[in-house]
Amino acid sequence: MDTPEFYERLDDEELTDTLVERNKRPRRFPPRNPKKLPAPLADFVGKQDDSRKRFKFTYKAARFEEGWLLDSLGGFYEHRWISDVLSRVKGGKEASVYLCRAGAPIPADYVAAKVYRPRSIRNLKNDHVYREGRTNLDEQGRQIVEDGMQHAMRKRTEYGKKLLHQSWIAYEFTSMQALHAVGADVPQPFAMADNAILMGYIGDNDGCAPALNEVTLGRNEAQSLFERVLHNIDLLLAHERIHGDLSAYNILYWEGRVTLIDFPQVVSPRINRNAFGIFQRDVARVCEYFEKQGVHADPRSLAAQLWTKHGYQPRPEIHPGLLDADDERDRALWQKQKNGR
Ligand SMILES: Nc1ncnc2c1ncn2[C@@H]1O[C@H](COP(=O)(O)OP(=O)(O)O)[C@@H](O)[C@H]1O
Ligand SMILES: [Mg+2]
Repeated sequence: MDTPEFYERLDDEELTDTLVERNKRPRRFPPRNPKKLPAPLADFVGKQDDSRKRFKFTYKAARFEEGWLLDSLGGFYEHRWISDVLSRVKGGKEASVYLCRAGAPIPADYVAAKVYRPRSIRNLKNDHVYREGRTNLDEQGRQIVEDGMQHAMRKRTEYGKKLLHQSWIAYEFTSMQALHAVGADVPQPFAMADNAILMGYIGDNDGCAPALNEVTLGRNEAQSLFERVLHNIDLLLAHERIHGDLSAYNILYWEGRVTLIDFPQVVSPRINRNAFGIFQRDVARVCEYFEKQGVHADPRSLAAQLWTKHGYQPRPEIHPGLLDADDERDRALWQKQKNGR
């Protein structure tokens, strides 16, 4: 039962309870004697431990969560990117987002840390659809070309799974860097670690910005924000990227502006053969929200128009893996598209 899949099925509270409970159980075997480390390494590890021990934060984490946060955010603390963890703003399926007090290098009071769930590998249904044609990235965002590492990922060994997990995070971080640099409405990315990303925080100390799906817009505002989201979709395409999971759930609304978030599954319109279908779905989901806010658009022709504007070839076939047959919204969307509406 102690498998990543088991943990992924739990919601946040169940996960914390399970892990706290597990920590209480007596250990069946006495821990093995730790191997003696060579002196310089022992010194390095000793120093690291000391500095992590000083990392005490205001947020009252559950017992297991505390260790997980120390592991995931300890490096950001050591490098002074953050000075405190204040609260958990959201616990999601894949990750939890924490409000942190920013350290000296960041010109803001607060910063957001997205921390992926412990031992989780990305739980995307059909992850191959997004990974098609993609080179995997290491924890520094460099392409993985080494044979041994590639073999481990193909064989899905424990090490391979760890590399794949890091690759999703590296894609999220490097995409945000590239998009922020060209002026897209995304949080400013600051740093990446094995299991976490540090980025600009959208919101205030009372809470994070709501996602669009929680907001009802006025008519004029809806029209201008729709255009702004399309401008971002267009900008992403111009820089050879498709969000891949765009919807009102992954667009934050704050002080009249939109911010696109949640980028691990970005795909390339040139390389990924499923790209056009993924793109059509992104556009359809955005149109679906704005339709409810009184803005009418034809997602099918809009997607085709944007796609050809950038010289990409439309590929009419939709990868069957893209359709989440269990998702009523997905089924309705595709039906609408098939009927040419
Ligand atoms: N930069 C940010 N500033 C404020 N809140 C954020 C930020 N990034 C994410 N969030 C909050 O955390 C939630 C989950 O983040 P997201 O990146 O969408 O991860 P998931 O994969 O769990 O959906 C978002 O819906 C939003 O409420
Ligand atoms: Mg999300």
